[in-house]
Amino acid sequence: MTAAETEPRQIYDAVTDTPSSYVREPDGVQPPLDYPPYKSTQLRHPKQPLIYLPQTMTELTGPALGSARAVGPLDHDLTRQHDGEPIGERITVFGHVYDTEGKPLRRTLVEIWQANACGRYRHRWDRYPAPLDPNFTGAGRCVTDEEGRYRFVTVKPGPYPWGNHYNAWRPAHIHFSLLGRAFAQRLVTQMYFPGDPLFRYDPIFNSVGEVAGRKRLISRFSIRDSEPDWALAYEFDIYLRGPGATQFEEAF
Ligand SMILES: [Fe+2]
Repeated sequence: MTAAETEPRQIYDAVTDTPSSYVREPDGVQPPLDYPPYKSTQLRHPKQPLIYLPQTMTELTGPALGSARAVGPLDHDLTRQHDGEPIGERITVFGHVYDTEGKPLRRTLVEIWQANACGRYRHRWDRYPAPLDPNFTGAGRCVTDEEGRYRFVTVKPGPYPWGNHYNAWRPAHIHFSLLGRAFAQRLVTQMYFPGDPLFRYDPIFNSVGEVAGRKRLISRFSIRDSEPDWALAYEFDIYLRGPGATQFEEAF
């Protein structure tokens, strides 16, 4: 076997459809698993040191997930999943997904879920006494295009209360999940909206220790991409790894 045959396989070019690496990040890069102001982390964080499974080529090569064929033509449009239009401020949310080295990541599955315009999830455990919208489910997905771009049409979610502490409210946010090509390559995060007055009170947002890391979770309002007489636009680029990486929620 030659040296070339034992080298890690390089599988991409300027645009890629496979994450270039699956590198363990050092402690402190992502929010702590036990963050006392976020009370439930005290109960659910691992009490023993993590046991890391050895990584093999499986993490890079399969099983294949996120087939474009599994995504319907309207899955990206949360305002057109029912007979009528949902109540709320119609918005578009768009951006790029970038790989470790800043390369756009094409054909990767991006999924979102969110509360409706009143801050209520369509979920049996959501008891917030705000209206459910019969025309809004709150879940969508799409696959990045050849240039690593994604785009959703939705309504701006409302803030909602939660039981973390007295008078606790979550800033308006959209949950994001990105799937690579293997089960170990799922990343989950939350996107926020600029100027939210609840940022300073939210322990989930503030579990990201660095100001720069928190800023990367806030979308950018774009008047240029807003569509006249139709919808405002928010841009949210996602960086999977590297110095400017988006902050993700650690798996438990
Ligand atoms: Fe949420």
